[in-house]
Amino acid sequence: MSTSNALTARQILQDPRRNRGTSFSQEERRRYGLEGLLPPAVLPLDRQIARVKAEVAALDNDLQKYLLLSDLQARNDTLFYATVMSDPAQFMPIVYTPTVGEACQKFDHIFRATRGVYLPITARGRVDELLANWPVEDVRFIVVTDGERILGLGDLGVGGMGIPIGKLALYTACAGVPPEVCLPVMLDVGTNNQALLDDPLYLGLRRRRVRGEQYDAFLAEFVEAVQARFPKCCIQWEDFANFNAVSLLARYRDRICTYNDDIQGTAAIALAGIYGGLRITGQKLSEQRFLFLGAGAAATGIAGLITQAMMQEGLSREQALQRTALFDVNGLLVSSRDDLADFQRPFALDHAPVDRFVDAIQALRPTGIIGVSTVPHLFDKDVIEAMSALNERPIIFPYSNPTSRSECTAEEAYRWSDGRAIFASGSPFAPVTFNGRTFVPGQGNNVYIFPALGMAIYATEATRVTDEMFIVAAQAVAEQVSAADLEKGLIYPPQQSILEASLRVATRVANFIHDRGFARASRPADMAAHIRACAYRPDYPGIVDFSVAA
Ligand code: NAI
Repeated sequence: MSTSNALTARQILQDPRRNRGTSFSQEERRRYGLEGLLPPAVLPLDRQIARVKAEVAALDNDLQKYLLLSDLQARNDTLFYATVMSDPAQFMPIVYTPTVGEACQKFDHIFRATRGVYLPITARGRVDELLANWPVEDVRFIVVTDGERILGLGDLGVGGMGIPIGKLALYTACAGVPPEVCLPVMLDVGTNNQALLDDPLYLGLRRRRVRGEQYDAFLAEFVEAVQARFPKCCIQWEDFANFNAVSLLARYRDRICTYNDDIQGTAAIALAGIYGGLRITGQKLSEQRFLFLGAGAAATGIAGLITQAMMQEGLSREQALQRTALFDVNGLLVSSRDDLADFQRPFALDHAPVDRFVDAIQALRPTGIIGVSTVPHLFDKDVIEAMSALNERPIIFPYSNPTSRSECTAEEAYRWSDGRAIFASGSPFAPVTFNGRTFVPGQGNNVYIFPALGMAIYATEATRVTDEMFIVAAQAVAEQVSAADLEKGLIYPPQQSILEASLRVATRVANFIHDRGFARASRPADMAAHIRACAYRPDYPGIVDFSVAA
């Protein structure tokens, strides 16, 4: 096989999209000139998966597992996704959070095969030229970061690239967005992390962060270049510092297909948990009153989406805002306070000041409390008992991450509420047995939202991403929870069946995108079937003609 347009055996074996390793059949090996280049046995995909799983199991360190999977992804895409999708609950924490955080911190010391596109600010004026080097023409999904606020770990400079890579792997593994249309991008505008700047192995620009006009111009050039080169592409902003995240979203949300998962996806997953909880109580969202512990980015984002969702049930904006109260380090957010930021003001109540959280519970009689304070133990016995005295089924959501910062544990919430709490948390908790009943705590993980939304955007070729789409996604996620899971207190779908749940959520959102006129693709007769047909399945297709370099 050495015609001029034929791929060489080496090209086939080194291309993760084409390589099947030991799964190449005898006929394929003959046809592509691979005979002798592989061990003689031919293994089916499931045997390959079993081998990878055994290798992973033999490692006792999550970062090593991450590296093993990352090397596999660089070698054989299909086997990588087949492995991850065979057991998402096991592999998600390795491919993405929490392990990816450590991988980002050590990025420069563990760097192996490159992936995605790095755009340094020194390439200003040439962004399109660099994007043109990416070998795929029809990119549909970019996850982009500038590395400034990676998870809770802060400024990791170019090491932040681990996040777009890991997140896009979940778009594929959890909702079937085809990997070939996904592109991770790192915008390197420098770093203010002195340890990185001092590290001789640091792989990014060795300069402090560029801010202001130059930063904005670089971002604008990036957005324009993406629009011109990949006109159907959605841009997902990821782990930018808050001030940039908010202003980038405001600047572009009504102009291009874009969203910020940290802001919008996070709010949607909390709302999904509430809808799930309301399936247990049989109540309406607009009947609820929520009190947030914390009034930062997460609290205002979630409260804002809850407000919009309540308005969809017929409340006025004022009525909805009356039902979402925030409490921060200085007490209840009331209009007489002069220390509130602009983004907090809409949530300030006309109410006397309240200094203790438990007093705010007595005063406002919330049906649910949502902890996004980053401070552990603040949902103490008094708080949960107060909620349980007011409500037959109190909603208790300690969402602060990681587990060590959770406002209470699952066991505390169930014990102090006498087993009546409707509980979900930001970080995972093991099942709890109380009074002979076993409760399964749900984890409010954005992974229920963003891959499904991404699939809907991909399948419809959406022009915009709106907050309403996130509300629909939240409702659809809650609908995926089975009666049996609700019975166990679980208000999110099990992670093990995330692909199925995501495809159904994507179907709902895709229909909504068409209803609202945001689709570029024509509307299929059967959306569920269409979404399934669009979804990537990790498998080796029959014999492919590699003589045409497609
Ligand atoms: P932030 O720093 O913007 O806000 C923290 C807020 O908590 C501030 O308003 C602060 O005044 C308040 N606070 C701090 N100490 C307090 C105290 N002792 N009493 C009352 N209020 C206090 O942080 P951000 O970005 O809003 O995140 C908050 C937490 O929520 C983080 O732990 C984050 O991991 C978590 N989170 C979880 C999500 C999930 O589970 N899906 C989604 C988003 C955030």
